[in-house]
Amino acid sequence: MSWCSGLEAICQADVPLRDHTWYGLGGPAAWLVSPRDESELATVLARCTTEKMQWRILGHGANLLVPDDGFQGVVIRLAGEVWERVAFRPPLVEAAAGMDFPKLVKHSLERGLVGLENLAGIPGSVGGVIRQNAGGRYGTIADYVRQVRLLGADGEVQVRAATEMAFAYRSSQLDGGVVVAATLELQTGDSTAALERHRTIWSEKYASQPPVSARSAGCIFKNPPGGAAGRLIDEAGLKGQRCGAAEISTKHANFIVAHPGATTRNVLDLITLAKERVFERTGVQLELEVEVW
Ligand code: EPU
Repeated sequence: MSWCSGLEAICQADVPLRDHTWYGLGGPAAWLVSPRDESELATVLARCTTEKMQWRILGHGANLLVPDDGFQGVVIRLAGEVWERVAFRPPLVEAAAGMDFPKLVKHSLERGLVGLENLAGIPGSVGGVIRQNAGGRYGTIADYVRQVRLLGADGEVQVRAATEMAFAYRSSQLDGGVVVAATLELQTGDSTAALERHRTIWSEKYASQPPVSARSAGCIFKNPPGGAAGRLIDEAGLKGQRCGAAEISTKHANFIVAHPGATTRNVLDLITLAKERVFERTGVQLELEVEVW
């Protein structure tokens, strides 16, 4: 009996992952599974546990680096109407994990709900943004989270208050569970001013970072306490450094861009180089922000 017996309708074998990541790099998933609702997701997680299969949740691939030989386990994709639902109950917004975060920001502003303009230009799915506590200069998603609905690896649903999520710089505590939805608390306010602020933050960001059209995964490293990874890599003289067709951005040194022909190995070699050079010069150990499978 195959591990996915009874789940054939939602399982595909040997699926290229490059098309699912902003980097456009990496090999195939042994299995790509697309549960149609929460109970099917619970079944898939339970099956992975009993069959001792490794699993990962695929968000929108904005912060993800997939190895060239792919992922030898089960990749779970939360896509489709059920996973992209949003309910506006001012000042609350309830969004399912597969909803596109930039779209959620836009739709909230259109309904006169303000706050998320501070997170302009952050890509990804709602689930991914929560898991990573994504953010930037003007705050993080934790500033707006009221509660998170999680499906534990044991199949039990938990509704956690924001205070139980242990949100910290680019991290949260899911205890091996999966974010299935989140409730955000926004404000009813002046959406014209908020839209203007959204435009300003977006422009500011894209004046200092590579364009969306350049293949990257955003910032590669977390900022070390009190410092900026981009500045440290820049001061180590690494802007424009290449491995194969991957390059440390000449615009912002904490981005590695993939030119045509680049491989994940090329990106990983630049990551190693940047870590080594920064450590030699400053004694700072850079930590990855990007998720590497
Ligand atoms: N800097 C350099 N050289 C560079 C890049 C930056 O000297 O090549 C200096 C800048 O001049 C500035 C400092 O480093 O003094 C910080 O740079 P920046 O203002 O660009 O912000 P950042 O700390 O590098 C953070 C987030 C970004 C987010 C921006 C803006 C992290 C790791 N990065 O970048 O998030 O977009 O603030 O809000 O927290 C991401 O998470 O993927 C990401 C890109």
